[in-house]
Amino acid sequence: MRVLDSGNLTMGKEVKNFESKMSKYLGVKHFVMVNSGSSANLLMIEALMRPAISKPKLNPGDSVLVPAIAWPTTIWPLIQLGLNPLFVDVDPKTLALDLLAAQRLIESSRIPVKGIFPIHPLGYAIPPSKLEEFVSKNELILINDVCESLGSWSEGKHAGTTGVAASFSFYFSHHITTMEGGGIATDEDSLADDLRSMRSHGWSRDRSDVKEWSSQVSNNDSKFLFVSTGYNVRPMEIQAAIGSLQIEEIDAFVSKRREIARRVSQTLNGTQLSVIGADGFLSPEASKSNSWMLIPIQVTGENVQARKKKILETLEGLEIETRPVLTGNFLSQPAIQRITRHAVDPKSFSVATEITESAFLVGAHHDLTDEQIQFLCESLLKASSII
Ligand SMILES: Cc1ncc(COP(=O)(O)O)c(C=O)c1O
Repeated sequence: MRVLDSGNLTMGKEVKNFESKMSKYLGVKHFVMVNSGSSANLLMIEALMRPAISKPKLNPGDSVLVPAIAWPTTIWPLIQLGLNPLFVDVDPKTLALDLLAAQRLIESSRIPVKGIFPIHPLGYAIPPSKLEEFVSKNELILINDVCESLGSWSEGKHAGTTGVAASFSFYFSHHITTMEGGGIATDEDSLADDLRSMRSHGWSRDRSDVKEWSSQVSNNDSKFLFVSTGYNVRPMEIQAAIGSLQIEEIDAFVSKRREIARRVSQTLNGTQLSVIGADGFLSPEASKSNSWMLIPIQVTGENVQARKKKILETLEGLEIETRPVLTGNFLSQPAIQRITRHAVDPKSFSVATEITESAFLVGAHHDLTDEQIQFLCESLLKASSII
C-alpha cells in the first residue's frame, strides 16, 4: 500500500533496496532484479554473448552442458541466442547434472564445450568445490540456474554463487515471492553493468560507468544513450517492496520446508516410497544444502510406472496435488524433440528416463499448517499401502 500510495510504481528505489538486501544475503557483489527467473536466464546469456565493452565469453555456435531434467527457460535462451545445448544425464540421488557423465561426454565427443549451465534442482545446492574442480579442469564458463534453490547453502556458500552468474526466481510458489520476479547474482562489475543495461532496452542509465558514456555525447543525448542490446524485463516497485519483506523471513521459511520434508521422509520409512535427497537429513551440514522447493518421491520396486499411476490417482482423489519432476526428461517434450529433430534419443538418458517414470513431486510450502502436513503424510501412507 505504501508503494501504491507513493505513486512511484516503476523501477526505482524499492528495487535498489531489494537488490542490496539480496546481494548481502547471498554474499555476492551485485544482484540485478528482473521480472522473472526466465528473464534472468535470458539476460545472463545475452550479457555473456554481447557485452558492451569486454570480450564475449560465449559466441554463437558454442556448446553448453545442461541437465536432461531441466526447466524449459533454462534451455530456450541458449537456443534463442544461437548456442548449442549439450544434454547430460542427471544424478539419481540429487537430480542435478551428473558431472561424471559430463566428463565422459567431453572426453568422448569431438564438439568443443565452452560452458556449463547446471540447475541446482528443487532446493539442492550442488557443492561449489565439485563445480569449480570440473570447470577449471575443462576450462569452462560456469553459469548457474538457482531458480529452485534459494536458501540452500553448501561449503559455506550460497547455491550457485561461484561461477560468472546465477539466476533466481521469486515466482509465487518459491522460497520467497514477489508474485512474479527474479534476478541475477554476480561478482563481476562489468557483467552487472551489462545486465542493468540489458534489462532496460540497452540504456546507459543504471550503469556504474554512465558518466563515462555520457561524457562522449551532448547533455541532451546522454539521457537517451543506448550502449548494448536489450529487452524490457524490469521489475516493478511493488514486487521489490514485497521481496524486501520476504527475504527477512527466508531462514524461517526454509526451516519450515526442511521440517515438512523430514516429516514426509520419516512417514515413508519402510514403505515402497522414498524421498529423493533424504540422505541430506543424516548430517546437519548436508541438511543446509537442501531448501526443499518441493519434495521428490520415488516409487521403488517392480513395475514402477503402473504403481506410480495408482499412487497419483489416490493422492489426487484425496485432493493432494502432484506433478512430474520439473518437466521430466526434457528431451521427451514435443518442443525440444522438434528442435533437436530426433538427433538425440531421450531414452539414452537412462536416469532421467527412470526418474520420469518412477518419481513425482508433492509440495513443501512453508505456509502449510500443521494439520495440512499431517494430512499430506497420512495421505502418502494411505497411497503407499495400495501398491
Ligand atoms: C530451474 C528453473 N529455471 C527457471 C525457472 C523460471 O522461473 P520463472 O517462473 O520465475 O520464470 C524455473 C521456474 O520455476 C525453474 O524451475
